[in-house]
Amino acid sequence: MANLKTTYMGLELKNPVIVGSSGLTSNLESIKQLAKAGASAIVLKSLFEEQIMTEVNKHLEDYNPFHGHAEMYDYQKYFEKQHLLGNYLQLIKDVKREVNIPIIASINCMTSAEWTDFAKDIESAGADALELNIFFLPSDPKMHGKDNENVYFDIIKKVTTEISIPVSIKISYYFDNLANTLQRLSQTSIKGMVLFNRFYNTDIDIDKEELTGGNFYSTSDDMSNTLRWIGIMSGLVDCDLCATTGIHNGNDAIKFLLAGASAVQMVSSIYINSADIIQKSLNEINDWMEKHNYESIDKFRGKLSKSSEMNSTLYERVQFMKYFGTKKK
Ligand SMILES: Cc1cc2nc3c(=O)[nH]c(=O)nc-3n(C[C@H](O)[C@H](O)[C@H](O)COP(=O)(O)O)c2cc1C
Repeated sequence: MANLKTTYMGLELKNPVIVGSSGLTSNLESIKQLAKAGASAIVLKSLFEEQIMTEVNKHLEDYNPFHGHAEMYDYQKYFEKQHLLGNYLQLIKDVKREVNIPIIASINCMTSAEWTDFAKDIESAGADALELNIFFLPSDPKMHGKDNENVYFDIIKKVTTEISIPVSIKISYYFDNLANTLQRLSQTSIKGMVLFNRFYNTDIDIDKEELTGGNFYSTSDDMSNTLRWIGIMSGLVDCDLCATTGIHNGNDAIKFLLAGASAVQMVSSIYINSADIIQKSLNEINDWMEKHNYESIDKFRGKLSKSSEMNSTLYERVQFMKYFGTKKK
């Protein structure tokens, strides 16, 4: 057996397959099954900033980023009744008692408002780390790129001064200069970056003439953007990189490790195939490592990253030239 151990954000993981934040990680029974199926860590289902603010600030009018949007107001009130925060902290405690792998709590946020105090409760409940899903679509044309970026830096600063467990950010690629921003974000106090958020796909139903959602689950075809950027950034950042989106099997995971990721997160594939896909993927990684004579993941991690290969622009150009050089009309 090859050694599949890896470290991510300072956490020792028995293998690189983490289960990403989703409905799969919202309750104890499911998490126990995922751990038994071989997952090396779990990212809990996200709490939303709005849910935290609702309890932190009982006067809803004081905080309403949706400016009186009636549906969202009802949504907030609904969650206020559910004592969600207490339940979330209890889930962390229960999971830590019953499951022997690292547990990463998750908050979906878009401002650095007072919700950040809640990070302390998450740490006290026993979470091993915190993933911040900074879910911010820069769709306001009045907002400048720098303002967009500042949201990320503000949130990181506030949260990392509150807690000492490792913090990662899960982000999108909507920045003016992605490489520059990712590098500067990695030089803050975060220990990991999860690339990239998968936005709920937008589609239009032309018969009904209304907006609809696209595919909810990813396929392996969705991975290429993340793969490119993990490959480009892995030698350029000061924190660990973790991949999300489109990782459906062991071979997909190997690609991200070769590009320089410390670990990968799987969600859609588990929904589609059941938790058995985790062990199947680990077997695939093991078989590939044995075939290629790698005793441990460190022996090949980052082998195909930009820093160990060649200039990224050149890399892209080479692929392009190869394609047209060999294509016969
Ligand atoms: C049903 C479902 C629920 C999800 N809920 C969350 C969530 O609460 N927080 C979060 O950060 N990501 C959430 N995600 C996104 C996943 O963590 C993951 O980043 C995304 O699905 C891409 O990975 P995949 O290709 O393996 O599915 C959810 C995804 C799905 C399919």
